[in-house]
Amino acid sequence: MSGDSGQEKHEAWEQIKAQAAEQFGGALVFGEGPLDARLVIIGEAPGEHETAQKRPFVGRAGQLLDRLLRDAGIDRAEVYLTNVVKIRPTTEAGGRIKNRPPRVGEINAGLDILLPELTLVSPAALILFGNVPAKALIGKNFAMGANRGTWFTTTTGIPALATYHPAYILRLEGPPYDETRAQVVADLITAREALTTPPQARALA
Ligand code: URA
Repeated sequence: MSGDSGQEKHEAWEQIKAQAAEQFGGALVFGEGPLDARLVIIGEAPGEHETAQKRPFVGRAGQLLDRLLRDAGIDRAEVYLTNVVKIRPTTEAGGRIKNRPPRVGEINAGLDILLPELTLVSPAALILFGNVPAKALIGKNFAMGANRGTWFTTTTGIPALATYHPAYILRLEGPPYDETRAQVVADLITAREALTTPPQARALA
């Protein structure tokens, strides 16, 4: 991206980020990547490493994501990465801070930032990792087993394909690990192909 329009887009992005910082404070992990990216990847929420580095997908799931993208022929540097929930949802157990699933209010607060973020980047397609972004953007009846890997319309107007979250793959072992990993790579290849052939997306019933 170059010239005045690139500069204006960057300023608008900084404004959304500043609004998010005001809303969520110092633990904010905002999206990153080229503002003219044709693919946007949306995760659930940052974890410990993302919070420490203030960057999405830099922990173990992020490292697996890098390998999945490479296997699918997608350059991470060309993708904009972000999350629905902008700060790490935590709980304390046995004196330790752990991740927990985000609450509905946290998802809705994150969407107030995510939607303008997506409108600004305006990619050709979205890749949604896991049920949280899939239910938030495709519809509450989204079911990963039945609906992954196909194109749906979203409230943003941008077509989206949802697949298993890399963090979910990391919890599997043996053949289920290999099978699920292969499914995710296949879904990422489908997403990459949508950059040359616009997807036929449908609304989720
Ligand atoms: N999991 C997510 O959903 N997002 C991140 O940024 C990291 C892990």
